[in-house]
Amino acid sequence: MKFITVENYDKLSRISANIIAAQIISKPNSILGLATGSSPVGTYKKLIEYNKNGDIDFSNITSVNLDEYVGLDGTNDQSYRYFMNDNLFSHVNIDISKTNVPNGCAENPEKECANYDKLIEELGGIDLQLLGIGLDGHIGFNEPDNCFTKETHMVTLDPSTIEANARFFASKDDVPTKALTMGMGGIMGAKKVLLIANGKNKKEILEKAFYGPITPEVPASILQLHPDVTVVYSEN
Ligand code: GLP
Repeated sequence: MKFITVENYDKLSRISANIIAAQIISKPNSILGLATGSSPVGTYKKLIEYNKNGDIDFSNITSVNLDEYVGLDGTNDQSYRYFMNDNLFSHVNIDISKTNVPNGCAENPEKECANYDKLIEELGGIDLQLLGIGLDGHIGFNEPDNCFTKETHMVTLDPSTIEANARFFASKDDVPTKALTMGMGGIMGAKKVLLIANGKNKKEILEKAFYGPITPEVPASILQLHPDVTVVYSEN
């Protein structure tokens, strides 16, 4: 594992965007696993800049996002589909039909999850998976549990996650209580993993995840078993 500590969020975003840009340049038809949350916003801004400068081309890229809230469709500005369109897809030359986010409004969520795993398999797996980390150690929406779940599945969000994500909603009561998330199989099957985190409040969970015991109580700790993980952290 490479653990890179940088001075500030701008540097973190540049390094993270550069790693993704290198992936796109070396394999223009890469399968990118993408993430939401506040951490990747700066990374996406840089990628948009590189695309506008002509340095990177998204036309042959396929993306697979980690997760989506149950009950929010793509027109809801709190959905992760909306977030991705707004923060990245609408501003680069990606083919929108090659961007994938689990459908949180699927009539049959179990089928949606199974199809998502099938899609990842058919694509040949993910080349580079970008991750943030929740304060409770979740990756995607894989919450602390007594086992790791391999498949894409529906989860009940931890009260602490609902609390943490309430800042994006009008009130805590508006935060969906369930989500669909890629499981550990999809994430651990990625050839490379890039995890970004910023803020003093993420320090403790990063220490637990990367230097503590591997346990489903700290979902990100499973990444200690992945052969190619880069963590970029900025305290500020
Ligand atoms: C959400 C997402 C995660 C993300 C986490 C951290 O819960 N499902 O994928 O990593 O938030 O978010 P932030 O980067 O805003 O701290």
